[in-house]
Amino acid sequence: MCGIVGYIGHRDAYPIIIEGLKRLEYRGYDSAGIALYNGKTLHVSKTKGKVSDLEARFETKASKHGTVGIGHTRWATHGVPNDINSHPHTSNSGDLVIIHNGIIENYESLKQELTARGYTFKSDTDTEVLVNLIEDVKLQENVKLGQAVQIALNQVIGAYAIAVFDKNKPEEVVVARLGSPLAIGIGEKDNEFFIASDASPFLEYTKDAVYLEDEEMAIISRKKGVKVRKIKDDSLVPTYVQKLQLNLEQIEKGGYEHFMLKEIHEQPKAIRDTYRGRLLRNEAIIKMAGVEDNMKKFLNANRFIIVACGTSWHAGLVAEYIFEDLARIPVEVEYASEFRYRNPVINENDVVIAISQSGETADTLAAIKLAKSKGAFVFGVCNVVGSSIARETNAGAYTHAGPEIGVASTKAFTTQITVLTLMALRLARAKGTISSSDFRKYLLELEMIPNKIEKSLESDAHIKIISDIYKDSNNCLYLGRGFNFPVALEGALKLKEISYIHAEGYPAAEMKHGPIALIDENMPIIVIATKKGHYEKVVSNIQEIKSRKGKIIGIVTEGDQQVKTLADHVIEVPETLEFLTPLLTTIPLQLLSYHMAVLLDKNVDQPRNLAKSVTVE
Ligand code: M6R
Repeated sequence: MCGIVGYIGHRDAYPIIIEGLKRLEYRGYDSAGIALYNGKTLHVSKTKGKVSDLEARFETKASKHGTVGIGHTRWATHGVPNDINSHPHTSNSGDLVIIHNGIIENYESLKQELTARGYTFKSDTDTEVLVNLIEDVKLQENVKLGQAVQIALNQVIGAYAIAVFDKNKPEEVVVARLGSPLAIGIGEKDNEFFIASDASPFLEYTKDAVYLEDEEMAIISRKKGVKVRKIKDDSLVPTYVQKLQLNLEQIEKGGYEHFMLKEIHEQPKAIRDTYRGRLLRNEAIIKMAGVEDNMKKFLNANRFIIVACGTSWHAGLVAEYIFEDLARIPVEVEYASEFRYRNPVINENDVVIAISQSGETADTLAAIKLAKSKGAFVFGVCNVVGSSIARETNAGAYTHAGPEIGVASTKAFTTQITVLTLMALRLARAKGTISSSDFRKYLLELEMIPNKIEKSLESDAHIKIISDIYKDSNNCLYLGRGFNFPVALEGALKLKEISYIHAEGYPAAEMKHGPIALIDENMPIIVIATKKGHYEKVVSNIQEIKSRKGKIIGIVTEGDQQVKTLADHVIEVPETLEFLTPLLTTIPLQLLSYHMAVLLDKNVDQPRNLAKSVTVE
């Protein structure tokens, strides 16, 4: 949550920071601000609203000058989104300025101590407390900014990525991280540095980046370069510069109206990238280093426990069906936020699989730490390379979906299912729970999924027409069975988060235990009724809906006739093996929610109250 950007060098900082904030807006977008130092004065400008509102303010009022600056796009935690609570925050003297992503949990007690010493506060934020704490340490201990930050952070409980600037020391910016990501871009010329929550703001300037680890800080100086130190004891850490693989094209809309639409259409490629080098059909093998290297742990496990949040949790539910069906391994799927506080019974014979697109979700990270502390082996399925979860897990497999920027997760979901399916197939083969001929057949079918998604995407115009009919509904019900029950949950989540229409996902057979009471002629019900699996049973559920006048949108297998006669609309997907159907049935549900939200004029990529990576619990 929250995006931070900074620059120190020879160029104008303003355009770099503004453009950088726009790229980080997926992290939070309820207010934005910039501090620029022009050699004489420190100019802070901030506002409630989006980065574009901040930009508009600069067009009329604010000074854009300065070769050093820091900027912030906020997802509010402490204090409502308003101008005053927006970052940057300035210390009482006006000398120090800070941007912060995270939460200072003990800010109340720190605030009381500082208030007792005469400090005053304008905002309701924890961040203003932190900048004044740093100032207080600096004055009391008579130390430089870097040391003051280090001493202050040792008094802080919570999570942070911060950048702090002192106008009396304009040659440097101090940054630090604990639990929230922070990257430093090293400019091609030695005296230029970029700071950001991820590398996207500085991709066009440099491919060299230093990623701070938790509990590290860095003093970034025009003259002395980047010096990384441990927050705990101030010891020096060797600086490791990584070459970025990301390019600008991957983080641009590429002609699509929204990132979400681009990402929906990228799924065939994303899935191919995810199984490339892993699914070797001609040799009939699946190669996944993280699985091979830990095969004993997987095969000897009592059970798998999958922990995740949101869409990643839905991918975990699909995986539960797949692991149990193919590899006959018992699986439990847990919300990371519940698991971490439940005192779960877990030991060294359990394998925990943590799923996360961002790799930064605070609850999932905490669940991993808990599982590790109890001796479990933890395997990560992440999209963001080098993310906290990728680093915290014992082993893992990346989804190669590329950057996902739309807040509503799409290609992350289908690539997570792809990785988990590959794992299930590999383990099933190792355990002998599927025959070698079935294994070959499954590999072939999995390899064909991207082409079948391309075919499913051709229904886009048809789905847009259906979306127009139902866009004004107050409620929607999504029903599915077996492998497609989690897809129903995912479809409902997609609709809720971007169109703000209330939606529920249910196992189709559960409908008669309650939700059926909701059905009348105003209720659209999206029913996943593909040919394989429990088709006849789902058809009976459709009959039950029809007799109560509900509006039925059937997601069916190509050529289906039976549902067509009952449903108000059908959307076809190509035929595939039952356990692979989620990879296809998901596509029309993504498009349906996308079109409804666009027709309702909602902000698809930045839905209200949400942020892409949830780094607070
Ligand atoms: O980055 P993660 O996969 O850990 O994120 C988990 C959820 O926050 C995320 O899936 C969220 O539910 C999405 N907005 C859903 O579209």
